[in-house]
Amino acid sequence: MLVAGVSRGWPEVGRLRAVLPPGAQLEVMDPADADRALLPTTEAALVEGDAPQRVREFAAGRLCSRAALAGIGQRTDPVLMDAGGAPAWPDEVRASISHKDSLCVAVVGSTRTWSGVGIDVERAAPLPRSTWSRVLTAHERGLLEAGPRGSIAARATFSAKEAYYKWYRSCGHSGTPDFNDVDVSLLDDTVVVTPALDTDLPVARGRCVVGDTWIIALLYSEPIQPRS
Ligand SMILES: CC(C)(COP(=O)(O)OP(=O)(O)OC[C@H]1O[C@@H](n2cnc3c(N)ncnc32)[C@H](O)[C@@H]1OP(=O)(O)O)[C@@H](O)C(=O)NCCC(=O)NCCS
Repeated sequence: MLVAGVSRGWPEVGRLRAVLPPGAQLEVMDPADADRALLPTTEAALVEGDAPQRVREFAAGRLCSRAALAGIGQRTDPVLMDAGGAPAWPDEVRASISHKDSLCVAVVGSTRTWSGVGIDVERAAPLPRSTWSRVLTAHERGLLEAGPRGSIAARATFSAKEAYYKWYRSCGHSGTPDFNDVDVSLLDDTVVVTPALDTDLPVARGRCVVGDTWIIALLYSEPIQPRS
């Protein structure tokens, strides 16, 4: 059962939906509501024997994805998995999934909507100081130490980096950017991810909604225009 984000008490979802580009579709659900029996057998086989919570979150991701794909008029074939664990989307689709214990989000668009997309959801809880040096650059740590919402903003920065990784792979790039390879800038609901000083990774832009309960980061890039 899919429910509207706002009525379920997920105002962060409503804020993100309001700024999605035309043609994009975001679906959400609580993994507790995800019925594994609704998955095609080829999808269910991907989590055969996994822990119940993992199965619920996986099922929520696939059910949300299918609803979103239908919403933009795309085929709703089973979404299998590549060797690295990423969903295997149809060629004409760019999409991304993220889930936590009680919120799953899936965002979908065609290649006319965007050339790549990545989404991440995190609880709006402080990022422990013990992890800062691993996931934040020195530049980011300096800004966050001085800022008013230090450790929540640190969590949002982390979330943007997880979304960046998915966006980067969604664009077709290979390799694994490291947390120290990019700097995140947050201003209101906008986010920009730029290469850190000694890297030449691409810039990504998007939204990062920080609410009372959830942080949702969404990065995407302009569609590639066909040559005329
Ligand atoms: C892959 C990764 C980003 C997933 O993030 P997470 O916070 O652990 O989990 P989330 O719930 O947000 O996302 C899980 C979903 O990501 C997707 N995913 C998994 N591997 C992926 C990959 N290699 N590329 C794109 N998407 C991937 C899947 O849809 C998965 O859900 P599913 O298995 O139910 O289909 C994370 O585990 C990881 O490896 N991070 C290290 C790399 C990184 O983020 N570097 C920072 C770069 S600046």
